[in-house]
Amino acid sequence: MSAVPPLVVVGAGVAGLCTALAAAPRPVWLVCRSACPVGTASAMAQGGLAAAVGEGDDPTQHAADTLAAGAWHNDVAAVHALVAAAPGVVQWLAGLGVPFDRDGEGRLQLGREGGHGRARIVHAGGDATGRAITTTLAQAAAAAPHVGWLPGWRLEAIGLARGRVAGVRLRDAQERSREIATPDLVLATGGIGALFAATTNPPGADGSGLSLALAAGADLRDLEFIQWHPTALDVPGAGKLPLVTEALRGAGARLVDGNGDLLMPGGHLPGDLAPRDVVARRICRHQQEGGRAWLDARGLDAEAWRQFPTVLALCARHGFDPRSEPIPVTPAMHFHMGGIAVDPDGASTVPGLHAVGEVACTGVHGANRLASNSLLEGVVCGRRLGERLRQATAGTAPAEHWVDAGPGADAAARAAIARLAGRALGPVRDGATLAHALQAIDSDRALSAARQGRLLLAMLAAALARRGSLGAHHRVDKGKNRNIRHGIDTPAYGETA
Ligand code: SIN
Repeated sequence: MSAVPPLVVVGAGVAGLCTALAAAPRPVWLVCRSACPVGTASAMAQGGLAAAVGEGDDPTQHAADTLAAGAWHNDVAAVHALVAAAPGVVQWLAGLGVPFDRDGEGRLQLGREGGHGRARIVHAGGDATGRAITTTLAQAAAAAPHVGWLPGWRLEAIGLARGRVAGVRLRDAQERSREIATPDLVLATGGIGALFAATTNPPGADGSGLSLALAAGADLRDLEFIQWHPTALDVPGAGKLPLVTEALRGAGARLVDGNGDLLMPGGHLPGDLAPRDVVARRICRHQQEGGRAWLDARGLDAEAWRQFPTVLALCARHGFDPRSEPIPVTPAMHFHMGGIAVDPDGASTVPGLHAVGEVACTGVHGANRLASNSLLEGVVCGRRLGERLRQATAGTAPAEHWVDAGPGADAAARAAIARLAGRALGPVRDGATLAHALQAIDSDRALSAARQGRLLLAMLAAALARRGSLGAHHRVDKGKNRNIRHGIDTPAYGETA
């Protein structure tokens, strides 16, 4: 065995895989709960990867759109670093074998999504981009001699010695445990959607990494900024809702009400391609008034539909043909802009604890992520972190004590937490509902002792503390409070107080 202490990476989505690959030749243990990489949010991503590679585009325009979508709450240096790296990321992934969609002359086909001023999204297999990228990266990691896979294991506890990471304890479905001594742990555990009743995220996105970081004393940041995707398929049954990609609106589909009237008028406004928080709020308000929302994609021609095999298949599974009838849609929790506070290299405030991808918060997404910037972030930040961790940040030391996130909630407590989270932390919020949710968890031991309950308490506290509206955090209880981004949010979308 090598004398270099191994790096432990938890999570085999795009961010975890890129970190593991870039850490070569340091030995890496790649820990993932499911048979990798199936089941990760990365693999399910229908949107693509944003990169300023089109004629007349450049990273400055990509940065401007990222900042406007993020309500200028973003870390500006992180934004510029991200968008500057994007064209190189496309080249690197293509070199690894990602079959990006191209036209007859070999040029990348570019799609458009909300908040982007122009077509800038590369896809592979149309709306199956996440699967194509994740599969290619997973194959590279499977072939990499420095990466050892631990599928079917979850991270149970972090060992600490003199305030820094000293090891991890893992557990599998048969309740066997194993410990690995390491000075460096990377959390790439994804988001928190599974805490909500309606989400586009997979069940594994249950905030496990964020909870552990909270228990270990790491600083968390921007927890109140939670993105609701405007168009999940509105099918009965709480829980995971299939995503209907925003790229359909980029290709011309329109959001309409029950009478067929436009929900997002255009003209001088961005209309259906406004940033996601604006569109989700518009639909949410319409639903609060008793309406329903549909995505009318009947205008797309056969050529355009070739880009959306995933949407066609999921609609068919639910008995719709979107080529001939509008698709019922509803907002669903999609992405967490907040997370473990990390520096540009992915280091948290606990020495040896690193985070990357959705569980981390570099500040790059601000108060609302721009579409298709998350796969990009996973690749850029994963590679940067992996390169930094080629060398161990310390020697190994025996763990002095172990930190876990507390017991998991039982089914009844999980359902109660999901209901409270959905009501209080939706696209439109108010102080009374936030305070009620906080009190309901605090006063019920089954909820407050569970790791999911503790995490929700932290998110509710952050949302209560931010009294004004900003991006995806929109409070309607604050008098003159307005969440206006000039030229984007306007009274036409119901954005005045
Ligand atoms: C989508 O395809 O609408 C989602 C893409 C993203 O989350 O950026």
